[in-house]
Amino acid sequence: MILITFLLMTAALLSGIKSCPVLCTCQNQMVDCSNQRLFSVPPDLLLDIRNLSLAHNRIANIPPGYLSCYTELQILDLHNNSLSELPKRLFINAKKLLHLDLSYNNLSHLPADMFQMAHDLVQVNLSYNPGLRKIHPLAFRGLFQLRHLDLSYGSLSFLGLEALEDLSGLVILRLGGNPWICGCTMEPLLKWLRTNIQTCVADVQRAKCWGPPEVDGVLLFSLTEESFKACHLTLTLDDYLFIAFVGFVVSIASVATNFLLGITANCCHRWSKANEEEEI
Ligand SMILES: *[C@@H]1O[C@H](CO)[C@@H](O)[C@H](O)[C@H]1NC(C)=O
Ligand SMILES: *[C@@H]1O[C@H](CO)[C@@H](O)[C@H](O)[C@H]1NC(C)=O
Ligand SMILES: *[C@@H]1O[C@H](CO)[C@@H](O)[C@H](O)[C@H]1NC(C)=O
Ligand SMILES: *[C@@H]1O[C@H](CO)[C@@H](O)[C@H](O)[C@H]1NC(C)=O
Repeated sequence: MILITFLLMTAALLSGIKSCPVLCTCQNQMVDCSNQRLFSVPPDLLLDIRNLSLAHNRIANIPPGYLSCYTELQILDLHNNSLSELPKRLFINAKKLLHLDLSYNNLSHLPADMFQMAHDLVQVNLSYNPGLRKIHPLAFRGLFQLRHLDLSYGSLSFLGLEALEDLSGLVILRLGGNPWICGCTMEPLLKWLRTNIQTCVADVQRAKCWGPPEVDGVLLFSLTEESFKACHLTLTLDDYLFIAFVGFVVSIASVATNFLLGITANCCHRWSKANEEEEI
């Protein structure tokens, strides 16, 4: 009996060791490698893995193609690592990925089609990437299922409307803690936010403008049409035609005036000369 138990335990242990990377715990289709001071991603995971946590490590790089075999992956937690970029096409086979947490990393920009093929994504968390300055207009292309997008606490001063326009399922959007510059280029986005998902923005009170000076400290969502009035003081074709016409009339008038003055002066001169001759 004891022997059988021992054998069973050994077998369980061996199979566990075989299928689970060192320092990780594996259970069902879940692999938890969080908080292990890992500098690189663990190799050879279960092929049918669904939930992978690599949170709270020091991972700075993910090899290209790392996820390409894990087609069942639904949850990927990379929260609190040192990632400064992700390889192109990382998510190419991650067609079932639902939740992606990249918060507390070192990402500086999101390129176009970053999440290409991961079209089922419901939640993407990019908060607390303090150097995140740039989001490509096509970074989130195709994420029609996306419901939660967290872009808070980065270094974003601008976000184009194109980046969010297609995210028709968005329910929670966080934009707070970024140094937004609410100039004319931000008007389309803010207008869209006001009319589309005003009720969905989760951190309205934290999303503030850092510039231009006249709106420094003002809440992003308290800006109205009126705030952007100066952006629309541009001249239309009619204005240009009017200005050209006025210019033309003025120059004709001045030529005519000069001409008349010339004639008048000439006449006066002759007249006074004639007078002088008469007097003599
Ligand atoms: C995924 O795994 C993490 C730990 O690795 C756990 O905290 C989390 O609840 C799991 N999520 C789901 C939906 O099972
Ligand atoms: C990040 O992980 C480190 C351990 O690697 C931990 O000490 C630190 O508290 C974590 N930070 C956050 C914000 O969770
Ligand atoms: C973050 O990335 C920058 C380069 O983009 C690098 O200089 C810096 O060392 C990185 N910081 C960490 C904590 O990885
Ligand atoms: C994103 O992650 C941060 C910190 O890790 C957390 O506070 C925040 O609630 C998350 N956002 C969403 C929308 O889940």
